[in-house]
Amino acid sequence: MGDAADLKSNWNFPTQVLFGPGRIASLPAGCRSLGMARPLLVTDPGLAALPMIAEALELCRADGLGVALFSEVKGNPTGANVEAGIAAFKAGGHDGVIAFGGGSALDAGKTIAFVARQSRHWSEFEDRGTNWKLADPEAIAPILAVPTTAGTGSETGRVGVILDERDHIKKIVFHPKMLPGLVISDPELTVGLPAKLTAATGMDALAHCLEAYCAPGFQPLCEGIAVEGMRLIKDWLPRAVHEGQDVEARAYMLAAASMGSTAFQKGLGAIHSLSHPVGALYDTHHGLTNAVFMPYVLQFNRTAIEAKMQRLAAWLGLGTPGFPAFLDWVLRFREELGIPHSLAEIGVDDSRTDEIVAMALDDPTAPTNPVPLEAAPVRRLFEDALAGRLA
Ligand SMILES: NC(=O)c1ccc[n+]([C@@H]2O[C@H](COP(=O)([O-])OP(=O)(O)OC[C@H]3O[C@@H](n4cnc5c(N)ncnc54)[C@H](O)[C@@H]3O)[C@@H](O)[C@H]2O)c1
Ligand SMILES: [Fe+2]
Repeated sequence: MGDAADLKSNWNFPTQVLFGPGRIASLPAGCRSLGMARPLLVTDPGLAALPMIAEALELCRADGLGVALFSEVKGNPTGANVEAGIAAFKAGGHDGVIAFGGGSALDAGKTIAFVARQSRHWSEFEDRGTNWKLADPEAIAPILAVPTTAGTGSETGRVGVILDERDHIKKIVFHPKMLPGLVISDPELTVGLPAKLTAATGMDALAHCLEAYCAPGFQPLCEGIAVEGMRLIKDWLPRAVHEGQDVEARAYMLAAASMGSTAFQKGLGAIHSLSHPVGALYDTHHGLTNAVFMPYVLQFNRTAIEAKMQRLAAWLGLGTPGFPAFLDWVLRFREELGIPHSLAEIGVDDSRTDEIVAMALDDPTAPTNPVPLEAAPVRRLFEDALAGRLA
């Protein structure tokens, strides 16, 4: 056991990060460093009711910043949330965004800062082809991110995932400048996250590292980050779940979450391709959905990832290194964290299978799955995950 206070440092990669317990005290100075005088703090209603948001607003006000609060952000944030946020940004004459919360609030805040001063609709910047080049980069407002979950890594990522209510598709909005200019990663802000959400968000971080590592393509920087991220999650997520007040465990998980989003610049895969439509149609929690899909997708990809799994299992110290050792570990880990084994247990049914398969094949994460995705096998994969049938 170390001391959480030692886990304090400043990083300049992948962006400027002030990491460690108590770092939230730097919020006003951080806003000023990005040129903000009138930040809009974007969060969700659950967090807005907690003391940490009142305290953050007070810190800013005491420093003379013209801060205001916008908290109309739901889990799996919607286009309507983004549009309401843009209206608040304009009405308040704001000059930057403090995106404060879990992935939902971070994604909404980043998207609001990106799109508020563009002439196009947010959905036109979906991560396809070179859509991002349609944006005026100079018009993107500065973003300071403060994560309160350790999972999505959105604080160190370049996308926002927004549900378009018009076609019920979760759209990945991308621009390189959506990467926040400054991140304050203070693990003390995450200690109040309930155990179930700690487990689900932690599994999202694991899914990011795992899918990034398995994605084809020459990107050894990302692969190195991904495998060490998985080691941290293996060693620290159970403690963060079962002993939520342990700031050291929370700190390692917060670091691992950022490692996941840094690594997935390389690409994601079928866990996310399937989890996006399921989340869009059933409003399930993203990390929890990924956690359910994980062993089925591993099995599906087995032929393409065997050698990589051997190296990974060795790094993680899993008995006889190989694919079976890693799959077994995932199954035991999920059980230890209380993650259900089938989609049926999280409220998904077979009534929308056709839509889910079609949406998964079209998801921007599909092309980087190690085994090319085709309709019939993906349907079987979904049906297996629904029924809890692991071949
Ligand atoms: N941008 C990306 O790269 C990326 C990656 C993966 C997922 N996502 C998206 O992120 C969203 C999921 O984010 P999430 O898993 O962080 O959950 P979330 O942001 O939806 O938050 C879940 C719940 O936890 C509460 N909460 C958050 N922090 C808390 C704290 N410290 N104490 C007490 N309660 C707290 C929130 O109020 C909310 O009710 C999804 O919309 C998903 O699509 C984005
Ligand atoms: Fe994810």
